[in-house]
Amino acid sequence: SAGTEPARGNPAPLHYPMPRQCPYAPPEEVTAVRAGGAVPRVTIWNGVRPWLFTRYEDARVVLSDPRFSADKSRPGYPLSSAVALAETAVTPTLLIMDNPEHDHYRRLVLGEFTVKRAESLRPAVRAVVDGCLDRMLQGPAPADLVTGLALPVALSVICEFLGVPFEDRELFRSLTHTMNAIGGTTETAAAARQELQEYLECLVAVREKHPQQDFISRMAVKHLGTGAMDHERLAAMALLLLTAGHDTTANMISLGVLTLLRHPAHFTALRDGDAPGLLAGTVEEMLRHLTIVQRGIRRIALEDVDVNGHLVRAGEGVIAAVNVANRDPRRFPSGEDFDPAERAHGHLAFGYGPHQCLGQSLARVELQEVYAAVARRIPTLRTAVPDTELRFKEDMAVYGVHELPVAW
Ligand code: HEM
Repeated sequence: SAGTEPARGNPAPLHYPMPRQCPYAPPEEVTAVRAGGAVPRVTIWNGVRPWLFTRYEDARVVLSDPRFSADKSRPGYPLSSAVALAETAVTPTLLIMDNPEHDHYRRLVLGEFTVKRAESLRPAVRAVVDGCLDRMLQGPAPADLVTGLALPVALSVICEFLGVPFEDRELFRSLTHTMNAIGGTTETAAAARQELQEYLECLVAVREKHPQQDFISRMAVKHLGTGAMDHERLAAMALLLLTAGHDTTANMISLGVLTLLRHPAHFTALRDGDAPGLLAGTVEEMLRHLTIVQRGIRRIALEDVDVNGHLVRAGEGVIAAVNVANRDPRRFPSGEDFDPAERAHGHLAFGYGPHQCLGQSLARVELQEVYAAVARRIPTLRTAVPDTELRFKEDMAVYGVHELPVAW
């Protein structure tokens, strides 16, 4: 429009993100950008104007080139909301660290997140899932699948892993909600974060004196004495795992079950037994198709960077729209569709590069166990309200449904 500076490759100003037209797909405008092949500058909530990368190959460069920083305290950082700024107000976590600090802390915990370790937790995960399903099936229908299954499974698994009391789950759930509700203020989000940080610092001190068989105890014994980590940093690590580890997984459980109900043939296929790789393939495709990190993964350039021919100048912000990049037909032939036969490996739902999700093996085990158990134990499962009445999480950093009323 008149008076707007012409930006490289972008004739009209574009506000990001824009509302979705369809609850099961990213905004059409972002998909159109990818199809058109341009890299536009977009305007975000606070007036900052980062570059928007929507192609798969470009998103990978943005997420893996070390000249892009994840440090949200840098001036001009394209924060996803006011609440995201709260991450800089309390002890920093891995998510906002750059090297060499990031590498130092990530290495200290890496051994806890192997595929082998996640597989060793599978029987415990299965027991948790079965317990929740027993309770849900004994109760009245309709029931809410979010509070009856998705949240208790995700919270209980991460609490058990960390050694955090499951009895305090409502506190973790509500504080995490405050930290992730994008309409909130930096102050309320920082206060919630501070409260959880202090809670976990107390727990670290307790576990240090009386270690048990859990993550916090093992890390306390191993790293507090050597000075590799202090109480505050260990608590911040636990905070990140507790919050990143339950909200994302819970949303993938409820939105994933909804997606299976909308694709009955694939739901039935899961029930009829696991053809080799079918379950794992379904989970991978679900991760790709839903890519619940809906506001893109953001960084800021420390130096000039050439992203496949597009120049980003030092100090400029970038957004990798992973939800749209994961539907790039040049990389994933099934594109917009949900097709478990797709070879979905290499998707960006867990990010890519140095910050790639630490908990991804555990998340896969959880999703595999939940989808399989639901398909096997509740073959008559259906949504109890019309889809048009579902409340989708456009108001949260991570996409999902606020409730999922189901009957069987
Ligand atoms: C990082 C997604 C489950 C712990 C990330 C990132 C994404 C992501 C996209 C990268 C963020 C960035 O680059 O800025 C997901 C999804 C999950 C999930 C979709 C569920 C399906 C989990 C679980 C845990 C976990 C279960 C803990 C057990 C972490 C941690 C990081 C991270 C610690 C930060 C890593 C770093 O900065 O080095 N996750 N995650 N996540 N995730 Fe997950």
